[in-house]
Amino acid sequence: MSRKVTKAIFPVAGLGTRFLPATKSIPKEIMTLVDRPLIQYAIDEARAAGIEEFIFVTSRGKGALEDYFDHAHELEANLKRSGKNDLLDVLRATNMDSGAIAYVRQHKAMGLGHAVWCARRLVPDNEPVAVILTDDVIMGDPPCLQQMIEAHAETGGTMVATMEVPMEKTKSYGVLDVAEDMGAIVKARGLVEKPKDNPPSNLAVIGRYILAPTVLQNLNKLREGAGGEIQLTDAIADEILEGRDVFGLRFRGQRYDCGSKAGFLQATVAYGLERGDLRDEFLEYLHEIVSLQRAAE
Ligand code: UTP
Repeated sequence: MSRKVTKAIFPVAGLGTRFLPATKSIPKEIMTLVDRPLIQYAIDEARAAGIEEFIFVTSRGKGALEDYFDHAHELEANLKRSGKNDLLDVLRATNMDSGAIAYVRQHKAMGLGHAVWCARRLVPDNEPVAVILTDDVIMGDPPCLQQMIEAHAETGGTMVATMEVPMEKTKSYGVLDVAEDMGAIVKARGLVEKPKDNPPSNLAVIGRYILAPTVLQNLNKLREGAGGEIQLTDAIADEILEGRDVFGLRFRGQRYDCGSKAGFLQATVAYGLERGDLRDEFLEYLHEIVSLQRAAE
């Protein structure tokens, strides 16, 4: 039985170049799917999974992200005065408890592994910690991290969220080498970041992790990996080399890669259709525009 996971690291220090020019002044994590910023989806998922402490690894130009978590007292008072209680509820649901959020700075974008390493002093060395990449928005019930925490309570070790991708896409992901396939859970015998050729499987790692404390220690090596970056995948692969367990969970749910423009657009459509207040009008519009496009082809 492993220790409860109550802390999560949100690495949000990347440059977000795929969304230039927007990310020239807006952090990618503040961009909205319908009316909620990406970061809110990640926070909601973490809260649902029982996370109590939220550690953000930020960087230059991410001020708007930090401001987002401040309580908006003036706005709340205004909505209260005008009796807009539904909006007040929406706003209050985003409030975080005092002291629940911590920020650390990554001074240079040296890779995801380096970003996670920057948070090392905020995680006790005997506790597992979750890592959530806000780029990966996952529609799932129960939410993906909750599925992982439940599975991790049984397995211990380190766990990554995994999904099957077409073989030709494996070069964009960390990929699992599977030792034992137990259905939803697989045990890894290796892990390769962005394999150029001969991927060990088509099971890709996506942006949810539960790390054993030793992974943060492995990151102390600050070894450069694929793309000259310090890779989290390499620190997880070291666990296997040192005889510790690493598992993948085939989560139930739909993942959207909101770090890419196409994925962001797909998520916008999917979340728009999920909304009772928008669905009918939006669906009608989608039908209309698809028929117009088809007619024009
Ligand atoms: P990406 O690989 O998507 O990079 O990072 P990016 O900089 O965000 O975006 P592009 O590729 O330039 O468009 C995956 C996650 O890791 C974080 C990012 O913020 C994102 O959540 N990250 C990446 C860091 O926090 N620091 C880094 O040095 C690199």
